[in-house]
Amino acid sequence: MSDLGLSLRGLRKTYPGGATVVHDIDLDVKRGEFMVLVGPSGCGKSTTLRMIAGLEDITDGQLMIGGRDVTDQPPADRGVAMVFQSYALYPHMTVAENMGFALKVGGMKRTEVDAAVKAAAETLQLGPLLQRKPRDLSGGQRQRVAIGRAIVRKPEVFLFDEPLSNLDAALRNQMRFELARLHRALGATIVYVTHDQVEAMTLGERIAVFNEGRIEQVGAPMVLYERPTTRFVAGFLGSPRMNFLEARLVGDAASGWVAELAGGTRLALPASASFTPAFDPSRAVELGVRPEHWQLVEAGGIIAQVELIEQLGDSGVAHLRLDGRDDIVTFKIHDGRGTSISIGQRVRLAPDFQRALWFGADEKTLNVGG
Ligand SMILES: Nc1ncnc2c1ncn2[C@@H]1O[C@H](COP(=O)(O)OP(=O)(O)OP(=O)(O)O)[C@@H](O)[C@H]1O
Ligand SMILES: [Mg+2]
Repeated sequence: MSDLGLSLRGLRKTYPGGATVVHDIDLDVKRGEFMVLVGPSGCGKSTTLRMIAGLEDITDGQLMIGGRDVTDQPPADRGVAMVFQSYALYPHMTVAENMGFALKVGGMKRTEVDAAVKAAAETLQLGPLLQRKPRDLSGGQRQRVAIGRAIVRKPEVFLFDEPLSNLDAALRNQMRFELARLHRALGATIVYVTHDQVEAMTLGERIAVFNEGRIEQVGAPMVLYERPTTRFVAGFLGSPRMNFLEARLVGDAASGWVAELAGGTRLALPASASFTPAFDPSRAVELGVRPEHWQLVEAGGIIAQVELIEQLGDSGVAHLRLDGRDDIVTFKIHDGRGTSISIGQRVRLAPDFQRALWFGADEKTLNVGG
């Protein structure tokens, strides 16, 4: 058996009429892996998933599932099952009939269908609901039935397209937990599309970040969070998002680097700071600082005034206007950090340079060391 759950090679989608919306993407998903696809609206996530499912022709490239080339195979022969945002249950059928329908149509014996439905219902804790009609279920229960319909088919790969986005926040949290549990219980290969970054960070063993039909970066959630290779990935993951400040870097590796921010503030970088060979000091860069990576300092730093504080209970977010500029930066208040600041106050902010990122004019990350 191949170790590869799924392999996309140069996968492209050009819709009739000319627009190419997926550009030659390469992606390997290991057997049993939970892979999340994220990215802004319209970046090609659903199109990619639909090409894997066989609901959309593949314009160019190759798709392998479990080591088999299925590029030109019909959907039913690919060993995949897809769960959509709108669960589309048959309203006149019971939960059990909905879950068993595909098996029955496929010619499976009644007793076997019943056994498969019963097993899936147990996994999903749907047992007591099997004789109900969809209209008598909550949104979360309906979504579980839709997942049950996929499970009974014992696919090699599960495809999910924003399955939780119709649910309210509390149900979404609960279903997220159940999906994680389900993945552990089934050991299934999963490709999961969302634009909810909390879902992406918590469910994904790896995340592929899409941007305009291309994959920007693939990696474990914390790798993407801490070491994004592009400004896009850095800005996409994290809430509130990373703060970006225009800057120029002067100096050199030997005598040390100094950042000159727009507005004239100068900040000395630690001696450990080093940059990729591609870095060209004559060109403007951007400094990226996450809201939790500012330090309040007594002297130096960037002077800013607190304009707004959002309290979230265990934490908060302060919005600060930089002196003499229109830029607003966000600062995360938590664990006693920044809890004393108040609206109207002027403070000095310094980036934690061990964690701050630098981006070049090509929007690629320039850091090598802190
Ligand atoms: N049948 C179609 N014909 C032409 N263009 C299409 C078709 N379906 C989708 N597109 C276009 O392809 C691009 C990618 O769409 P897709 O549905 O894959 O995006 P997405 O990443 O899933 O977005 P969302 O987060 O909004 O669901 C969009 O620009 C969309 O308008
Ligand atoms: Mg979509």
